[in-house]
Amino acid sequence: MAADAKRTVADIMSRPVVTATPDETVSAAADRMRAQSVGSVVVVDGDRALGILTERDLVRLAAAGADPGTQVAAWMTAEPDHVAPDAEAGAAFASLAEHGYRHIPVVDDGRLVGIVSMRDLMRIAQIQPAESLAHEVPRGLEGVVVAETQIGDVRGLEGFYHYRQYNAVELAEIRTLEDVWYLLFHGDLPSSTQRDDFADEVRPLRMIPPAVKAALPEIARVANGAPPLDLLRTTVSLLGASLGYRPSLDVDHDELRAEALRVCAVVPTLLCALHRLQHGDTPIDPDPDLPYAANYLYMMLGEVPTPEHARAVEQYLISTIDHGFNASTFTARVITSTGADLAAAVVGAIGALSGPLHGGAPSRALQMLDEIGTIENADPWIRAAVERGDRLMGFGHRVYKVDDPRSVMLRSVAERLGGPKLDFAEQVEQLAVEILGELKPGRKLYTNVEFYAGIVMDACGVPRDMFTPTFASSRVIGWSAHVLEQAADNRLIRPSAHYAGPPPPQPVPSAA
Ligand code: ACO
Repeated sequence: MAADAKRTVADIMSRPVVTATPDETVSAAADRMRAQSVGSVVVVDGDRALGILTERDLVRLAAAGADPGTQVAAWMTAEPDHVAPDAEAGAAFASLAEHGYRHIPVVDDGRLVGIVSMRDLMRIAQIQPAESLAHEVPRGLEGVVVAETQIGDVRGLEGFYHYRQYNAVELAEIRTLEDVWYLLFHGDLPSSTQRDDFADEVRPLRMIPPAVKAALPEIARVANGAPPLDLLRTTVSLLGASLGYRPSLDVDHDELRAEALRVCAVVPTLLCALHRLQHGDTPIDPDPDLPYAANYLYMMLGEVPTPEHARAVEQYLISTIDHGFNASTFTARVITSTGADLAAAVVGAIGALSGPLHGGAPSRALQMLDEIGTIENADPWIRAAVERGDRLMGFGHRVYKVDDPRSVMLRSVAERLGGPKLDFAEQVEQLAVEILGELKPGRKLYTNVEFYAGIVMDACGVPRDMFTPTFASSRVIGWSAHVLEQAADNRLIRPSAHYAGPPPPQPVPSAA
């Protein structure tokens, strides 16, 4: 056990290292990576590591449409970080996780002696006892791979994310929400017949079941002005119970899919009904002739929205359907891994999303703009906030260390819509990024999805207390897709913790 805990990099590294020279072609290096089943080559001059070329670089090259006949030197990362062979394995893991690397060369006295990959570390993680594993895992599970998924992924260093095999931003640019929903549930975009069938299947499911509908006024009354997401949590729980949702362990894929479809279809209706009841208005039934986003705004605001507003909100909704193993998605998968029913997973995920560090930020981002008030006030306000240790809402991201592609897209949607807050928001963004760069050097803090989400929704007439609920109304599709995937190939998710309290066992004192 002790030996395991003290494993050094030399114990776990791979060697000999698959190498390349800087002047050979990327295509030759890629062939060698494939032949040797490795995810990187270290670029060397003799036994000195000059750089590293990884699968990610190959993807970047392909995405840029560049010629694979170019020299390795043009695409490698020069002077890569490295570890020493006598470093503790945990240090190598921390370094990989912190920087988002998958491979790190091992260098002894300037000489390349091996390479450690995430795969090597995961292998030893599996055979280590829980006590030492706890030491290995970075706080907040940053960079830790906990599952396989075919639903999508986020590449933080490239500022790219995808749903299934498609660029998510491109989907948001040219597809409807229903198409992307279909993609997440079925693995591919629908044909026109599949699209019509899917719309026919979903349309009646938007209606709130009568028993739940009858309970809504009382839920809204008792909740006494609580945030709509809290009411949604309660209502989804009631919905699952009243519809007799069964443990995911006991139902087959078709039944679970039907339950998932129903929850996804009805959540926007529930949110709008609860919102209206909280404001003393009568809930509005879904309009079967309106597509998803237009119907959502109609049920919330009581008027059919302009096509511009409906499309802007639809693009926001598409862009937030899924996003890797974010906290709420992970929560949904953990709950499903216990075999609990789909509603339980969605309720837990709503709880995770409601936190200000996750989905609760967009209204706070607008609130921050209000508090800043004028551009003259922006510099001192932001400086004082960051120096106090406050978080600027709508900035920073666990995975993105470059611009969040959702923020980039939503900024352009906001520019299309115009509106009184836009110029100010853009000026504050620029200033905040500069000040964060100065006061938090090396942290790479840019706007995340939430900053312009607030601006877009505000321009479309969505009230602030419905910002995070609107996020939930599309993310429920992502959660459900993950629930289906988890249930299809389940193993209980049950990690361990490192106990850091007083050493047990202490004698139990008798009651006084
Ligand atoms: N404003 C100021 N400083 C920040 C911010 C921010 N928004 N975000 C991170 N930092 C700083 C931290 O203070 C810390 O500095 P330190 O090293 O001097 O202590 C450093 O950057 C790293 O911060 P962590 O907390 O380790 O970053 P983490 O990856 O855990 O946090 C998070 C990511 C929670 C999103 C964070 O950036 C944050 O709190 N942002 C504000 C809230 C927000 O916008 N949430 C929405 C996220 S998007 C979504 O969930 C859909």
